[in-house]
Amino acid sequence: MSVKRAKISGVGRFLPDYVLTNKELEKYVETNDEWIRSRTGISERRILKDPDKATSYMAVRAANEALEDAGVSAEEIDAIIVATVTPDYFFPATAALVQKRIGAKNAFGFDLSAACSGFLFALSNGTMMIESGRAKKVLVIGADKMSSIVDFTDRTTCILFGDGAGAVVLEETDKDGIIDFVQHTDGDEECMLYQPAGGSLNPPTEETIKNRMHYIRQDGRSVFKRATEGMADVSLEIMERNNLTGDDVAWLVPHQANQRIIDATARRMGLDSEKVMINIGKYGNTTAATIPLCLYDWKDQLKEGDNLILSAFGGGLTWGAIYLKWSK
Ligand code: UT7
Repeated sequence: MSVKRAKISGVGRFLPDYVLTNKELEKYVETNDEWIRSRTGISERRILKDPDKATSYMAVRAANEALEDAGVSAEEIDAIIVATVTPDYFFPATAALVQKRIGAKNAFGFDLSAACSGFLFALSNGTMMIESGRAKKVLVIGADKMSSIVDFTDRTTCILFGDGAGAVVLEETDKDGIIDFVQHTDGDEECMLYQPAGGSLNPPTEETIKNRMHYIRQDGRSVFKRATEGMADVSLEIMERNNLTGDDVAWLVPHQANQRIIDATARRMGLDSEKVMINIGKYGNTTAATIPLCLYDWKDQLKEGDNLILSAFGGGLTWGAIYLKWSK
């Protein structure tokens, strides 16, 4: 009996037009272009300025492009997973808004919250649905309007994040596709990277707003250390499990949080820099969108049978990796 696998058959994205440069950030906080570029690799990021547009707006556009790329109609989709930490509402799920707006009338959907590992966890979940035979076509979206939770008076975080969305269509195949995945969570460090208020622990009050508790808080140095170890460890874990060496890997598709974290991961994997997808310079950290945005930017360079390692680390703490053999 042949193995049932999931493969990525289409990729789409949406990026807002507005470009927020390091130079412009110098007007809001005490920072400078040289510091931001040398510490993070970021030169600019995109911001969804329109006040009546939110995460679902970007997700829908990315989804429609992915469907077109795959040659799949919205009615064929069985399930929609939207990875995001900036949903339009707590409920209904952003996936429900996407389902309606793309016309995926046969799909169920839900949001998945795993911060910067969100897309990777969503892709793993979509894969399990297909491997189990419960779904044939799944839309996996990573979308975040980070500007809605970024404190533009906090120089330690506002320089990092940007808005964007990426989507993939996952389809059943008996050939190459997603071979293996690893997912980790460590809830011990819930306050290392989080949004203190807005949830049921600290519902919105005058006090929470005054104390700027609805914005991202991050202990940057600690997250940096954990992310550098975590992304490299999990990438090596999946390579070892599948008997892969650096020579066997065609591409590392890393979460884009900091160029230095990506470089350290690639070094531990034994990869040359030309095998690493890096677009953090243009988009910053778009949280759940970084990995599909990379796949989109590099899709014309991907060849059948290429071994890809997708790897991410984020709030939770969460981290994971996926090994896939490219086949469209
Ligand atoms: O995707 C989710 C996971 N998130 C991450 O992976 C982010 C991980 N963390 C990081 O990427 C880095 O820790 C940052 C980019 C956030 C910070 O870089 P760093 O090299 O760890 O800097 P630092 O926090 O150690 O700060 C060094 C100095 C400090 O000044 P003093 O204390 O040495 O005088 C900061 O106050 O840089 C200062 N600083 C800044 N200076 C100019 C912090 N932010 C800025 C800024 N511009 N924007």
